[in-house]
Order: sequence, then structure tokens, then C-alpha cells
Amino acid sequence: MSSPIPSRSLAAVVLAAGQGKRMRSARPKVLHEVCGRPSLWYVVRAAVAARPSVLAVVVGHGRDQVVEAVRSWRLPLEPRFVDQGQPLGTAHAVQAAREAVGEAEEVLVLAGDDPLVTGDHVRALLRVHRRTGAAATVLTTELDDPRGFGRVVREGDELVGIVEEADASPEVLAIREVSTLVYAFRREDLFRALPRVRPNNRQREYYLPDVLRVLKAEGERVAAVPVDLGGALGLNSRGGLAAVARVMRERIIRRHLEAGVTFVDPATTYVDEGVRIGPDTVVLPMTLLEGTTRIGARCRVGPATRVVDSVVGDDCEVTFSVVRGSRLGRGATVGPFASLRPGTVLEEGAKAGTFVEIKASRVGRGSKVPHLSYIGDARIGRDTNIGAATVTVNYDGFEKHRTVIGDEVHIGSDTMLVAPVRVGRRAWTGAGSVITRDVPPGALALERSEQKVILGYDERKRAERAAGQGAPKGRRRRGGRGG
Ligand code: UD1
Ligand code: CA
Repeated sequence: MSSPIPSRSLAAVVLAAGQGKRMRSARPKVLHEVCGRPSLWYVVRAAVAARPSVLAVVVGHGRDQVVEAVRSWRLPLEPRFVDQGQPLGTAHAVQAAREAVGEAEEVLVLAGDDPLVTGDHVRALLRVHRRTGAAATVLTTELDDPRGFGRVVREGDELVGIVEEADASPEVLAIREVSTLVYAFRREDLFRALPRVRPNNRQREYYLPDVLRVLKAEGERVAAVPVDLGGALGLNSRGGLAAVARVMRERIIRRHLEAGVTFVDPATTYVDEGVRIGPDTVVLPMTLLEGTTRIGARCRVGPATRVVDSVVGDDCEVTFSVVRGSRLGRGATVGPFASLRPGTVLEEGAKAGTFVEIKASRVGRGSKVPHLSYIGDARIGRDTNIGAATVTVNYDGFEKHRTVIGDEVHIGSDTMLVAPVRVGRRAWTGAGSVITRDVPPGALALERSEQKVILGYDERKRAERAAGQGAPKGRRRRGGRGG
């Protein structure tokens, strides 16, 4: 941390009670996801970065979902949930948190739907707030399209106040500096001013920004700290959500670039928050790295690949494929056009090749499933080769059964392994066999009717055809061609 901030007497209040009508969603607005995490997660992280002694979360709409989400994040301090009841506006929401705030000297307020605000921004806000001795300080930013947000009205450098879109004159609407809903207050001033905020506006709401006007009228100092949020702010609408996600994506990719990862086309690469990627890995275009994914060093991932909740070791290659809930050992290769479903483990140097689907199976070190196969509920030893178009027949219509294949096995092409079945070490299966019984180590299992050979067949066929062409013309035309 850059400068030591005394934190004993700071309370953070995160507003998360609104419905988010403009999103037209059944889900509470603050739980909409940006790069794999709910908006509220980023806001809570920024709040926690200021090291408050109290973290209050104001809930209302979708209360149970919001509480459950926050509890699942295992925060360094126990959040206090405050039910706002009827949400009458942001000032009303902060008022509801009064008891939870307790005796803290300072109150930091953040909106659960402003996820681009980081811990650094919050610390910058607090620094200015303390240095200037202001009663209230607000974080602001510039937007090319400021529609929907409160405009920051200044006289010279002095902050006059914040005017909500619904109440703004055309001149004010043209202002591109907008207010975030991230404020630092001296607690006593905040709770003295709050009861004096009236819903005298077009939306009949109690506006938190009005606290600034009340304090100024009392002769208190208020300040505004402009920061660069990358050109987006909140997710009031689906359009806002998309704009915020774009900025977040750029930030995440920039971090990986700085850590030594190559992105051939950052614009078509989507990396979730929290994904880890080792140095000298190359991520090719149209690739998505999601959830808890960890990619090792020196890998090539993509193009057109989706990796979800998976661990990919060093030196792996994954091409045109989907990998979910899987683990790849060092030097494993996947694709093109493979689907690894949850529970797949490819050990070191193993391969899942072209048009291969693997589910809940372990493929041993150096073993290969190169072409057109389905492997489900199987365990494959090391240095085994699975011939093209092999299928583990794992489902009998009622239950799933396991296939166990030993080390150094040769499974012939187009083998059907009807589970439950075991194939011993160094065993072989003949191409096209339907294996229904265990194969002992070192044995060849062949299940195939004996091949018939009919000599001279082609000659006979041609002769028959030539004879047919000798028939009267009319008949041939009407009857069409045979065989
Ligand atoms: C608010 C600010 C606006 C600022 C913008 C930045 C007000 C009046 N306006 O507008 O100046 O530019 O944020 O994103 O504050 N909430 C509650 N209880 C309520 C109302 C809202 O908890 O009664 C929560 C919402 O869940 C949301 C946040 O407060 O997380 C902001 O509410 P929202 O309605 O989105 O305010 P904006 O119109 O975006
Ligand atoms: Ca908002």
C-alpha cells in the first residue's frame, strides 16, 4: 500500500438494495456478472481495500440472493447486512445503515453497481478527503456518453453540486464529468445532513448527492476527485453492462500482458477476473478463459478455444477446443475440435486429438486418444494408444459403467468397449471389435465375424450390367436404373 491510511475508524457502506429496473432482469442488478464475477464483488473488494473496521451492505431487492453471494466470498471482515425495506433512494439507503456504521469517524459509501472503481481509486479518494479536511468528497469521472448519470457542476475548480439526469437543464446535460456513487464522509456531518435531504426532484427519491448541497449550505467544504475509469461507469442498463465489461476486459488483459503473456488479438480474447496465466504463454484470437482457470507457462491456447474452471499445465497446446472442469498435465495437447468435459485428467504429455470427447476420465502419461473417439468414465494407463473412432460404451440405458485400460495398451480403431470392462497391460484389441469381456494382460481380443472373399466379383458384376444394357430401349427408359 502506497500511504498508510489509519483505518480503525472507517466504516464502508455498500448500496445493493435497488431493483435495477432499466436492466429488465429477474436478477438483482448488483449480481450481474462482469468478467465472471458479480458487479458487487468488485465493489466489495474496493471497499475492503480501504481496510474499514465495519462493512455494511444495504440490501432489499433480491435480498436473499445478495446476502448469499456476499457470504460466499469469505471476506476478511464479517459483513453487516442492513435491510432498507422500501428503497426510497440512495440517501435513504445510507440512512438505513446508520446503526451498522456505529461510531466510526469516517464513512465510505459505494454503489454495488459501480464495479470499475478499484481499491486504488478509493484510497485516492480518502487521501484527498483527509488532506483537504472536507466534510464530503466524491469520486468523479469523464464519459463520452454521460447519459443516465449525475453531472458534476463546478464553478472553476469548485464543486457546486451534482445534478441527476432527470433534473438537469440542457446546459448541465452537456457536461461530461459524471459522479460515481463513491463518497467519503465525516460521519457526524453525514448523519446530520441526511435527515435534511428531501425528495424534491422529478423521481421523488432521496438523493445521496443532495447531501453535498446541504453541507455546502452549512458552509462545510465538499470536494470532488476526478479519476480515469476507462470511459464507462455503472451498469444501469444492458448497454452500460456491456461498456463496463469492455473496460474490465481491457484491464485484465493489460495485467496479463505486463506479466509476460502474449495476446495475438486482445479485442477477441475474454479472460475472467481471477484467471492465472504463466509467462510466455500465447493466447490466440477468439479465446475465452473463464472461472477458476489456471494456465501454465509456455502454452499455446486457441484460436477459438474456451477453457472453463480448468488447470492447464506448462507447455500445453489447446486448439479450437472446449475444456471444462479438466486438468492437463505438462505438455498435454488438445484438439483441434476436442471437447473435454468435467472430470477429465490428461496426464503429462497425453493427447486428446481431433473430434474427441472425453468425460470424467483419466488419460495416463503419454497416452493418446488422437481421433474421433468418445471416452467416458474411463481410466487409461500410460503410453497407451486408443485407435481412431474408439468408444467407451459407458451407458446401459440405466446406469454408467467404468472402463479400465492398462499401460502400453493398443486399442484398435473402432473398438467398442462395453463397460464395465477391463483391458490389461500390453493387451491389444482388433479393429472393429465389440469388447464385452475383460481382456487379460498381453492378450489380443478380437471380436469380428470371419471375412468372406468372393473372387471375380467385379468382373461378374460388370458382365451382368452389360447384359442388362442389351435389353430393348423402351423398357430401360421406363424402368429406370436398377441396383
Ligand atoms: C447514482 C447517483 C448518480 C451517479 C450514479 C453513478 C443518486 C441519486 N444518483 O445514480 O449521481 O452518477 O449513481 O453510478 O444517488 N440503491 C439502494 N437503495 C435505493 C436506491 C439505490 O440500495 O433506495 C443502490 C442500488 O442498488 C445501486 C446504487 O444504490 O447499487 C445506485 O442506485 P441507482 O438507482 O443505480 O442510481 P443511479 O441512477 O445510477
Ligand atoms: Ca447506478
